[in-house]
Amino acid sequence: MSEQVINIERIDDFFILTINRPQALNALNRQVFNDLENFLDKYNGDYTVKGLIITGEGHKAFVAGADIKEFESLDHISGSILSKRGQDIFFKIERFHAPVIAAVNGFALGGGCELAMACHIRVAGVNARFGQPEANLGLVPGYGGTQRLIQLIGKGKALEMLLTSEMIHADEALRLGLVTHVVDSGQEVAAALEILKKISKKGPLAVSKCIQLVNAFFEKQTDGFKQEYEEFGSTIGSEDSKEGARAFVEKRKAEFKAK
Ligand code: CAA
Repeated sequence: MSEQVINIERIDDFFILTINRPQALNALNRQVFNDLENFLDKYNGDYTVKGLIITGEGHKAFVAGADIKEFESLDHISGSILSKRGQDIFFKIERFHAPVIAAVNGFALGGGCELAMACHIRVAGVNARFGQPEANLGLVPGYGGTQRLIQLIGKGKALEMLLTSEMIHADEALRLGLVTHVVDSGQEVAAALEILKKISKKGPLAVSKCIQLVNAFFEKQTDGFKQEYEEFGSTIGSEDSKEGARAFVEKRKAEFKAK
């Protein structure tokens, strides 16, 4: 029987996915990718799911990168295939219908930093450390790191992190906008859950469309402004938006149905 590499726990309308390879600092091997992809394919578009949290087992690491021990056998072609697979799975996170929060509880390096960056929101524990140290290994990042790091912290600092391979601490990540909250160690998941609970009270279609529209800004082939007026129309025509307006007038909480 293969080892269980992702623990999946459902709490009310949310899932917590814990990457469970602490002996390898939760490094991303092929099985982690398979399990992650199966989960995302199963639940994307299921509006009973109102958010995901991704975290790492133990107190030391969120994810210390791609599994370096799987690199030995890779060549030009198989390396590109692995990289594309990682990118595709991380796009599935970025395009998930509901918010995905990375609860970063330690090292988030290489593929780990890239995984956190593919999530919509990042919460870090005080001991979290972020970095793209691939150049130490004679590599470039392969799971979207060169693109999303620029999106989040800008070209100058992104290049410095990529070229020096140096790690930054949680407080620096907060200052740069790489994370939006720094909390006590051990409180990362609880803090992420609080954010998900807030979002889960909003219109689920609106939440989903906001995610898509923000993603659209970074998709070269998409006109985000055009997509915005189309989605404004689609949401204002929805049952949820009528319910939202009625609830406002009647001074009560809206009962959204994702319709
Ligand atoms: N892959 C496989 N195993 C890893 C790993 C990784 N990325 N990171 C850590 N481990 C393993 C170590 O080999 C070690 O295993 P053994 O006990 O069997 O030797 C165990 O986890 C504990 O690690 P350390 O003994 O190294 O722990 P440390 O506290 O001394 O150092 C660390 C911690 C600084 C995070 C160090 O482990 C490290 O530098 N890890 C590699 C980080 C890295 O380079 N990540 C990028 C990977 S490449 C990538 O991600 C490419 C991409 O974009 C697709």
